[in-house]
Amino acid sequence: MTGAAERLDAQLTVAAPPVGRVKLSLNGVARSFGAVRALDRVDLSIAEGEFVTLIGPSGCGKSTLFNILAGLLEPDPGGTLLLDGAPAPSGSLLGRIAFMPQRDLLLPWRTVLDNAILAAEIQGQKKREARELARSMAAEFGLKGFENHYPQQLSGGMRQRVALMRTFLFDREVMLLDEPFGALDALTRALMQRWLLDLWSRYRRTILFITHDIDEAIFLGDRVTVMSARPGRITLDRTIPLPRPRQPSLLTAPEFMALKRELLEAVEEESLKAFAANGP
Ligand SMILES: Nc1ncnc2c1ncn2[C@@H]1O[C@H](COP(=O)(O)OP(=O)(O)O)[C@@H](O)[C@H]1O
Ligand SMILES: [Mg+2]
Repeated sequence: MTGAAERLDAQLTVAAPPVGRVKLSLNGVARSFGAVRALDRVDLSIAEGEFVTLIGPSGCGKSTLFNILAGLLEPDPGGTLLLDGAPAPSGSLLGRIAFMPQRDLLLPWRTVLDNAILAAEIQGQKKREARELARSMAAEFGLKGFENHYPQQLSGGMRQRVALMRTFLFDREVMLLDEPFGALDALTRALMQRWLLDLWSRYRRTILFITHDIDEAIFLGDRVTVMSARPGRITLDRTIPLPRPRQPSLLTAPEFMALKRELLEAVEEESLKAFAANGP
């Protein structure tokens, strides 16, 4: 181990349960699809206002976990899923958490504003009021002047901002984001990361952010959680003690590199296991 990694190792321990009030907690949440076990007893706890990132090899069950948390998919019986310390009365978190799925799902026949208000509208909010609010947020989301454009007239980064605005307008304390910047070029992605952090610091939602990019996971997170190859479970939960606001210069700092090395090793180990079990 290098000096920097050693110092960091002394400084970091596997994360204790979050210090703030626990917002979301999962215990032994599992899911199989027929004979395929996608998720294997996931334990995870997220504190109020915390930004937690989740990385893992592709196919490990990240989106399955996302779907369960969003209330779009039933977990297998036996696990517990608590929001604010209580199970959802209906057994599902659908409608309790704002989420942005891996594909942006913008409707091509709706304008930017009308796409942004979609989730709020489905929740029964009046269209005119939702539009007003969306209009007032357009500048903050870098969409000023594009309110009446259609998705196909936008760049990839703008489309993702519309989808994020929709998620923000679906006004919930917890937000789930499934690889929101995965399809963007590196430069746009870096800008979007800083923009999201800025937004988060002002709105202080609790965020679970799924990614397969280690730099992104470290740069954004208060904690990085690593999911194992399928069947997925959380194999590492690391506190990221890097100062905020996070600056781009951080990406080349020794502390950052040491964390990256450590997490890369954990993820690689998992990927190799997956490769051996399932092929690439
Ligand atoms: N609806 C489904 N039916 C059958 N198998 C599924 C379904 N959804 C996911 N899986 C399987 O579960 C595993 C995890 O998938 P997923 O959660 O999408 O992984 P990730 O998002 O980490 O890439 C994969 O092997 C996938 O084929
Ligand atoms: Mg996925």
